[in-house]
Amino acid sequence: MKTIDELLADGVSGKRVFVRADLNVPLADGTITDDGRIRAVLPTVKALADAGAKVIVASHLGRPKGAPDLAFSLLPAAERLGELLGAPVAFAQDTVGPAAHDAVDGLQPGQVAVIENLRFNPGETSKDDTERGEFADRLAALADVYVGDGFGAVHRGHASVYDLPARLPHYAGYLIATEVGVLKKLTEDVKRPYVVALGGAKVSDKLAVIDQLLGKADRLLIGGGMAYTFLKAKGYEVGISLLQEDQVPAVREYMERAEKQGVELLLPVDVVVSRTFPDLKTKAPTENTVVDADKIPADQEGLDIGPKTRELYASKLADAETVFWNGPMGVFEHPDYAEGTKAVAQALVGTNGFTVVGGGDSAAAVRTLGFDENAFGHISTGGGASLEYLEGKTLPGLAALED
Ligand code: 3PG
Repeated sequence: MKTIDELLADGVSGKRVFVRADLNVPLADGTITDDGRIRAVLPTVKALADAGAKVIVASHLGRPKGAPDLAFSLLPAAERLGELLGAPVAFAQDTVGPAAHDAVDGLQPGQVAVIENLRFNPGETSKDDTERGEFADRLAALADVYVGDGFGAVHRGHASVYDLPARLPHYAGYLIATEVGVLKKLTEDVKRPYVVALGGAKVSDKLAVIDQLLGKADRLLIGGGMAYTFLKAKGYEVGISLLQEDQVPAVREYMERAEKQGVELLLPVDVVVSRTFPDLKTKAPTENTVVDADKIPADQEGLDIGPKTRELYASKLADAETVFWNGPMGVFEHPDYAEGTKAVAQALVGTNGFTVVGGGDSAAAVRTLGFDENAFGHISTGGGASLEYLEGKTLPGLAALED
């Protein structure tokens, strides 16, 4: 994989460089609530601009249905990028149309333009190679060189991620190079004990990674909504907690395999339960209680791991040499159910080992809960991408940068 350093060494002054970033940031009423992904691509954009490139930044945001939808406009992200760069950033209101061409034609060396959400064009995510290829051709017409730096999207075989690099000289940006370096540390010669904390809502999203990790990790700590499918598989009743009944047999099999392979698979021993799901907008105080994991009342749902579990998980993380954490332990967006996620984040901060927070909600959680990002070994910008890497899958966006 050629990196941006090689491109810079060859000289990029006056060249149009297409940077495929992942500016898919969370928004609330049009306001960015976590700009981590924008900050993560700054080193690449700055280095190119400083070297006199004409920088075109492109990304998706959310999942619009292949047509313009202003609720998913990249404009707020473009404005934030400009603020962080401390320089004006042009914004094109289309992706490959006249506005994009005008914006690119108007760039002077060292200037930056952002084009509108790539997913406003159906060719970006199309399953049809020809349709994707046609969109990639039109994107290629905007630029001389391609830099892949949207790590969060490298698991998508989309036009701008997979087809476009085949049409232009291509390089990996600093973010992709860093992310891949970190994930290699988790897969090759990992330092032990290697502890993995997995949370989040759906167990089905995590089965493939659990499958891989059973052969690699020493301990697996389970929390979040997915824990209730494990508790059910253990034979407990889980009330009205999130449950993927159809996954119970698979989960039971993993629990048996973990035991056979000597992997410690830990489940919550107590949980915070409530009759109603909290209001995440008003964050109004809720009524809740702590119960043992085998005593969840029939009319209540588990929304966080309880205090005994927090202590247990913290003790299992204390001596870790390597930690990978993906997925919150509870509904951390509400203060009544944030303690489990906070406890795991705090335990990561407290270990001397190498700690990796794997993207998505857990990365947003550590920032919104007020943790210092520098206290972690690495905070990934890719939730799905880092999980698929650990599953051992070939990631289209990395494969496309290889040759
Ligand atoms: C993410 O948020 O994980 C990436 O930006 C990819 O987004 P997607 O799941 O909508 O493809």
